[in-house]
Amino acid sequence: MEKIAFFDAKNYDRTWFDRLAPKAGLEIRYLETRLTPDTAVLARDCSAVCAFVNDDLGAETLPRLFECGVRAAALRCAGYNNVDLAAASSCGIRVFRVPAYSPASVAEHAMALLLTLTRRTHRAFTRTRERNFSLEGLVGTNLENKIIGVVGTGKVGIRFAGMARGFGARVLAYDPEPRWGAGIEYVRLDELIRRSDVISLHCPLTPSTYHLLSRPAFHQMRDGVVIVNTSRGALIDSEALLDNVKSGKVGAAGLDVYEEEADVFYEDVSSKVMRDDTLNLLLSQPNVLVTSHQAFLTQEALRAIAETTLENLRRFFAGEPVENELTERPTAAAVSR
Ligand code: NAI
Repeated sequence: MEKIAFFDAKNYDRTWFDRLAPKAGLEIRYLETRLTPDTAVLARDCSAVCAFVNDDLGAETLPRLFECGVRAAALRCAGYNNVDLAAASSCGIRVFRVPAYSPASVAEHAMALLLTLTRRTHRAFTRTRERNFSLEGLVGTNLENKIIGVVGTGKVGIRFAGMARGFGARVLAYDPEPRWGAGIEYVRLDELIRRSDVISLHCPLTPSTYHLLSRPAFHQMRDGVVIVNTSRGALIDSEALLDNVKSGKVGAAGLDVYEEEADVFYEDVSSKVMRDDTLNLLLSQPNVLVTSHQAFLTQEALRAIAETTLENLRRFFAGEPVENELTERPTAAAVSR
């Protein structure tokens, strides 16, 4: 049986991986720690690692994994901004991902954040538990007839746009590769930013989308705009967001991701001092709702993640092509060189 070092393991990961790994002929070594250059050594004697969004598969980590015997990295997520693909190729580690496991999970969570903020249900929840049945401060806004700007209309964004249309909102979208005919009005990004009542981010994090929403972008937005980010934290300049929440320019923000999330998300740090003042101040605002990168976390998604991750690895070890490969598969000529 091939051994897999499974970094950043949580109990909820194990349900489906434990059930399905033996059928794929794989033995899993669960490690609670994240993958970093310093923890790479824990993969010794494993032929592959399984990694998640905040594991470090950078130029320092990858050669250390190779030295341990690792020949493949199976990401159990869609995004791969945490992987240095050039370094992986040059040291001979093949990288796979799960391109789609449940886009509906992420789109539904984005909509949950939006509805919570626009109808103040997060505030009503805490109030009524204290037997406070006052409605003061709970006045919401409808989505019907609002303009909802969707940045990125891939698998998640297109579903979110469909839900927004279901609420009777008008959808504006920006995507360098538009899906014409989906009943969506595509506009330039600056126009979307200027006209939208809600802006929801569904594009990947790349060098060109880093701080897509920065100070100049916030300046262009409508007063009271609602921002939703379930994609990657660094799409938003967090300090600029905080300043715009404080000034009232941003009416509400729903964040499932945060640019410095690797230090705190997925962990219980409730008894520790939080050093990140930007996150502290965002969390203290009544109109900011932060969830801990949980948009993917549904039963349906966890099962699909385990199935695809294990199938990627099974195919790799069987020498079969892996459709979900991110690195370029060595050609026969290259192998023979
Ligand atoms: P996808 O690859 O299907 O769609 C991404 C879309 O963004 C594509 O249509 C692409 O053309 C577009 N795009 C690329 N560059 C752009 C730019 N500069 N501006 C606007 N659009 C651009 O990806 P999918 O599955 O829809 O996922 C979207 C994002 O959601 C992922 O990149 C990932 O970061 C995030 N995600 C978050 C999860 C969570 O738990 N919070 C779980 C899964 C994904």
